[in-house]
Amino acid sequence: MSQAGDRCLKNLRFENKVAVVTGGCCGVGRGCVDVLVEEGGKVAVLDTNDEVGMSLTSDNLPGEIYFIHCDMNKEGDIQSAIEKVIKKYGHIDCLVNNVGTHPGRNSIDNLTVQGFRDLLDTNLVSYFAASKYALLYLRKTKGCIVNIGSIGSSAAAFGMPSYCASKVGIDSYRFLDKSSKYHYHRNVGYIPIFDIVLSNDVQK
Ligand SMILES: NC(=O)c1ccc[n+]([C@@H]2O[C@H](COP(=O)([O-])OP(=O)(O)OC[C@H]3O[C@@H](n4cnc5c(N)ncnc54)[C@H](O)[C@@H]3O)[C@@H](O)[C@H]2O)c1
Repeated sequence: MSQAGDRCLKNLRFENKVAVVTGGCCGVGRGCVDVLVEEGGKVAVLDTNDEVGMSLTSDNLPGEIYFIHCDMNKEGDIQSAIEKVIKKYGHIDCLVNNVGTHPGRNSIDNLTVQGFRDLLDTNLVSYFAASKYALLYLRKTKGCIVNIGSIGSSAAAFGMPSYCASKVGIDSYRFLDKSSKYHYHRNVGYIPIFDIVLSNDVQK
């Protein structure tokens, strides 16, 4: 039986649901996209990697992929991407804030102030901006936000001060979870990634 046939026999956890995954072309984000599509979700992938994005396919899987070129460092791109998702699907059930870059081991001497600002834009400000523009729709569906964190927020690694600083900001979303129940939004999740060694397959 085909993979799609197999899936028809079981309940799909994301059938008729719409997810937005930032930085979904590669790595952890790509893994999230694959799982959501396998579970029947309609998944908007916001990424700058057009080559990979245009080649993403949901063939033989119950869900579908909608690639949107979006530079997560640009507020206008993020706002317009969320609008495109609403125009196409009408609602959003889940936002996975995943996009992140790692400058490698880099001392303060070797990173410019602008380089640090750019890193914060990608790793931290983009989470805020995507949440801000998606919340309007997530409240309507009582959907959820998943923020991908890192062990770097709680255990500063040698030679990675800038990356760790950016991830500490994501950490604070855990506290937003509590306050959000009453003031913002019901479901804000946080996934810290600890000792995960990603295989080459996942890294593609
Ligand atoms: N890989 C790990 O071992 C690891 C460990 C802990 C936490 N994390 C976290 O997981 C998340 C994903 O990391 P990864 O290793 O899978 O990254 P990755 O480099 O494999 O993939 C990042 C994706 O984001 C996209 N991207 C980068 N900058 C962008 C921008 N400005 N606009 C739009 N798209 C952009 C890239 O094209 C790529 O598709 C990050 O938040 C990272 O901090 C990763």
